Amino acid sequence: MEQRIKIQPKKILLQAKNLDVYYGTVQALANVSFNVKEGEIVAMIGPNGAGKSTSLKAVCGLLKETGGWIESGEVEFEGESIKELQPFQLVKKGICLVPEGRRVFSTMTVSENLEMGAYTQLSGISYRLSENLDKVFQLFPILKERRRQRAGTLSSGEQQMLAMGRALMLTPKLLLLDEPSLGLSPNYVDDVFDRIEEINRDGTSVLLVEQNARMALEIADRGYVFKIGEIAFENNARNLLLDENIRKTFLGE
Ligand SMILES: Nc1ncnc2c1ncn2[C@@H]1O[C@H](COP(=O)(O)OP(=O)(O)OP(=O)(O)O)[C@@H](O)[C@H]1O
Ligand SMILES: [Mg+2]
Repeated sequence: MEQRIKIQPKKILLQAKNLDVYYGTVQALANVSFNVKEGEIVAMIGPNGAGKSTSLKAVCGLLKETGGWIESGEVEFEGESIKELQPFQLVKKGICLVPEGRRVFSTMTVSENLEMGAYTQLSGISYRLSENLDKVFQLFPILKERRRQRAGTLSSGEQQMLAMGRALMLTPKLLLLDEPSLGLSPNYVDDVFDRIEEINRDGTSVLLVEQNARMALEIADRGYVFKIGEIAFENNARNLLLDENIRKTFLGE
């Protein structure tokens, strides 16, 4: 008998629909829609000030903290509206952000930083501190070596690893990464991208904002290309890498 291969459509994990976002009187996003399906790496690329970080903040509830708000549109996670939720509630749902510029607790040790990550998960959620710590140390052996060192004395690459490790202590379903390669030397950049792929292979979906457009698209399934305040194109990552316009404008060719 003929064998049929059934292609299972991937489930949508995150859906942002028609977002209008303002900071004061300044509109930062106009009618922006994007989604992340289960198991995907999705890249957001585009020029400075286009609204990439704003899009991540809209997802993880951090707009308010910076004086912004969603004027209209919807954000859904696993089919439920999350637009009104606070950042800690979103963490509980499995959405974690590693913000631009990392922001580790510099006077605390590497281990303390990682444990802090886990403690922000509120009671009532089961987490296994030592199991997660083992996983993070396995992914980032350098953090294990440096576990007693104060975070502020780590190199910038190591601090990026720590910031990612701290988010992973929360066992996210969706990891939001804002410019993880910013300011890192080429070796560290490669390393960070390898780790992102590995995190994704372990089952975490990733929404990745990057200036390093080529590398981001190389590891991504799909990509969104921003122009100021809007999404100009979306496509699978391979098509974006082959697109002549994108190559000229964003990939420096
Ligand atoms: N807290 C804020 N208050 C006022 N305006 C803001 C604020 N944060 C961002 N903006 C404005 O919103 C727009 C989008 O900013 P956003 O940080 O999302 O851009 P971006 O695409 O992440 O840029 P970059 O690549 O430089 O990080 C910009 O015009 C920016 O000046
Ligand atoms: Mg940004």
